[in-house]
Amino acid sequence: MKHVTDFSLARKRGRLISMVTCYDFWTAKIVQQSNVDCILVGDSAAMVVHGFGNTIPATNEMMVTHLRAVSKGAPDKLVIGDFPFLSNRKGITFSMETADRLMKAGAQAVKIEGFKGNEKVIQSLVEAGVPVMGHLGLTPQSVHALGGFQVQARKGKAADRLLAESKALEDLGCFGIVLEAIPVDVARRVTEVLEIPTIGIGAGPYTSGQVLVLQDLLGMNPDFKPKFTRFYLDGAKLIQEALDCYADDVTMGEFPSAEETYE
Ligand code: KIV
Repeated sequence: MKHVTDFSLARKRGRLISMVTCYDFWTAKIVQQSNVDCILVGDSAAMVVHGFGNTIPATNEMMVTHLRAVSKGAPDKLVIGDFPFLSNRKGITFSMETADRLMKAGAQAVKIEGFKGNEKVIQSLVEAGVPVMGHLGLTPQSVHALGGFQVQARKGKAADRLLAESKALEDLGCFGIVLEAIPVDVARRVTEVLEIPTIGIGAGPYTSGQVLVLQDLLGMNPDFKPKFTRFYLDGAKLIQEALDCYADDVTMGEFPSAEETYE
């Protein structure tokens, strides 16, 4: 999948969309060779790559650095870049500059968290030819206001509001919406009502596609296993075993061998 138009085409054909996050060149090269449809260079980079406790420390510079690396490694995948914390709340000019930087760094589309207060920014970006993806439900940049990383839209009113905001994002021209950490029935209703694809994370199976943080699905952090994640690899264990083998070989004088040495 290379273009946002492929994204909506998949929805029309009822083909489920697979998305992963990615932050660096060599991993992007692996994703490029895989069947995964598209890549989100998420502001989760702040947590996964830089070790922060939430996504608030992500900056335009951080996103640009990761986008440059990923777009070089996966030139044939649709790459979406996250607007970092408050970059959509500093006026239209700053939002335009952010989109400018993300797109020039290799994003073909941007993702913006939340709805209320973002209407003008989204409309301006769409009018300027920048494909925008929405993000509702658990919006991690609002972690402090939400009282933590918790399931959202559990109650009737909140679910209705999420539904209305999804529709409004579609009307503003968003080409897709990430639905994060919401009950399965709410995600299903939203997906049924919208024409654009919904991409779920912790939103159950009835969305138009799924997104997972790459390091989560590779089991790179065995201590972090939320209900919605599936480990497809015991990555941390495998890497540690490889490192131990290397360290043991060095200690025992078994690496490098004659074949691994220049005459
Ligand atoms: O930043 C991110 O990784 C995200 C996904 C969790 C959807 O926004």
